[in-house]
Amino acid sequence: MKFVYADDQATFVDAAADVILERVAERPNLALTLPTGRTPIPLYRRLVSLHDRGSLDLAAATVFMLDEYLDLPRFPDGSFVNFLRDHLGTVVFNGHTNVHELAPRDDERSLTAYDALLDGAGGLGLAIVGIGRNGHVGFNEPGSRDEERTHVVKLSGETVAANFGDAVERATRAVTMGLADLRGAASVLVLVSGLGKERVVEQLVDQRRYEDVPVTHLADHPDVTVVVDVASLGRSGHAVMRSAVGALRSRKAN
Ligand code: GLP
Repeated sequence: MKFVYADDQATFVDAAADVILERVAERPNLALTLPTGRTPIPLYRRLVSLHDRGSLDLAAATVFMLDEYLDLPRFPDGSFVNFLRDHLGTVVFNGHTNVHELAPRDDERSLTAYDALLDGAGGLGLAIVGIGRNGHVGFNEPGSRDEERTHVVKLSGETVAANFGDAVERATRAVTMGLADLRGAASVLVLVSGLGKERVVEQLVDQRRYEDVPVTHLADHPDVTVVVDVASLGRSGHAVMRSAVGALRSRKAN
C-alpha cells in the first residue's frame, strides 16, 4: 500500500486527482467506481474543473455506481445517484460516459445483472472508495466477506447515524458492490477524510487484515493508494500521522 499524508485539503485533492488522471491516461476505456459522502466532494469539484479545462475526459470510460440506498421513501431524493449527478454531472452524466446506475432493488435478478455488467467490462480498472468510521467501504460493513459481489446489506446503527443524523426519513438497507469486485480492481484509491477515522488509519498503516474492518481486506492488494486528509482527522490527526510515518519507517528499516 502506498500512503499519502496530505496536510491540507488542497494537497489531498491534488494527490487523489493525480492518481485518477494517471489511471485514465493509461487506460481511457477503463471501468471505474466512485464513492459518495462528504470525503470526495472537494475532489469532485477538482474533477469538474479539470474536465471543463479539457484535462480529464471520461468519454471512453464506464462508471459503475458503488452503492445505493434501498427503501428511500422519496427515491431519488437523498439517493447516491442524485449525489453523483449533483457533483459530477458534467464529467459523468453527460451523455458520453457509459454509466451503470445501481438500481435500488433487492431482487436476485437485478443484483446478478449488475455483476454481469461488471464482468462484461472486464472488472474495475480503478476503484475509488471512501471509508466509514467503522472501516466500511461502499456499504460493505464489518462482517463482509471477500467473495461477496453485489448484494443487499442491513446498515449498521453507526452508519445510519453518521449518514442521516437526526433526519426522520432514513434508509436502513442498501445495495452495494461487494469486496470481490473491489479487491479485483486493477487499482484502488482509498480516500480518508473526516473525524472519527483515525483508528481505521492506524489499522490501514499496519498493512494487515483486520477481519471486522472491511477496508483492511485490501491490505494484500498489489496497487492501493491511501490518501489521508490529515487535518480533517481533527486534533488527533497529526499524532496519528506521526505514529503512522514512524511505523512505516520502521517497517522499511526491517
Ligand atoms: C457512505 C458510503 C461510503 C462512504 C461513507 C463515508 O456510507 N456508502 O461509500 O465512503 O459514507 O462518508 P463520508 O465521506 O461522509 O465520511
